Amino acid sequence: MKNINKIAVMTSGGDSPGMNAAIRSVVRTCAYYQKDCIGIYRGYQGMIEGDFVELKARSVNNIINKGGTILKTARSKEFRTKEGREKAFLNLKKHEIDALVVIGGDGSFTGALVFNTEFNFPIIGIPGTIDNDIFGTSHTIGFDTALNTAVEAIDKIRDTASSHNRLFFVEVMGRDAGFIALNAGVGAGAEEILIPEENLGLERMLESLKKSRKSGKSSSIVVVAEGDKSGKNVFELADYVEKNLPDYEARVSVLGHMQRGGAPSCFDRVLASRLGVKAVELLLENKTNLMVGLRNNEVITTGIKEAIKGGHTIDKELLRVSDIMSI
Ligand code: F6P
Repeated sequence: MKNINKIAVMTSGGDSPGMNAAIRSVVRTCAYYQKDCIGIYRGYQGMIEGDFVELKARSVNNIINKGGTILKTARSKEFRTKEGREKAFLNLKKHEIDALVVIGGDGSFTGALVFNTEFNFPIIGIPGTIDNDIFGTSHTIGFDTALNTAVEAIDKIRDTASSHNRLFFVEVMGRDAGFIALNAGVGAGAEEILIPEENLGLERMLESLKKSRKSGKSSSIVVVAEGDKSGKNVFELADYVEKNLPDYEARVSVLGHMQRGGAPSCFDRVLASRLGVKAVELLLENKTNLMVGLRNNEVITTGIKEAIKGGHTIDKELLRVSDIMSI
């Protein structure tokens, strides 16, 4: 057994609400076990530059409720090079850091895995991304908050859509995954939901909108995932519908980065707290290359490799529910 005395924590890739709660959990669990904790600023870039800070239990007071990440985040190009990773390793050694907790998405986990392979450095991943596109957990940290933000925004759009008898295309985040679109779409009562995993074609959308009109609906909302595969962006979709169904007056709203901000929901705070504890405990047991996650409300672990490569599957039943609801 290797003695783990000092653990570093960082956030990497796109930020997500609840990352601060996860940092707090890692720091306080280290304090609980009387281990030192170091925060690394700006993810892998800060590791390369030696941008470190000592974190004690009191350093993370009053951050559980804050969006963003106090450690900042980055997508480091330099870490993709061997020289960059070597610099990062030397900095960890210089500061006598024994193990690392990476809070991020699949890009960050890929970096962690390469780093572990090259330097045999112990790492545990905590899934933090609003996209929820990670295998091995039902929820990533930030997904629930982003959903609530998207639903609240779509509710507001519904008010104006209904007042003007308009059709709205609302683009939500998710360049590779439709989790936000599908769940926020169902939650906000969208007529149609377009996601990358299920391209049903534009004809179907036209048919469905025609039916809606006939059935007496005067306004409609179509939620579109950023990465949808219809071949048209959200503005082109609006033009396309107006050309083919002249009865419709269409407008577009792109929710964008507002979905990444804001105070984390209670669900995300609790999830982050649970996953942070488990991540530190695994490292203290000399475990490595694992991601902590949630399944059936239990904290579980998955191999990092599997978490990256496992892909994600969309809930077909939820798609069916959405179809039935939009009758
Ligand atoms: O973190 C995931 C995500 O929010 C995606 O949904 C989105 O496509 C991407 O990040 C945007 O990244 P950036 O903020 O670097 O433009």
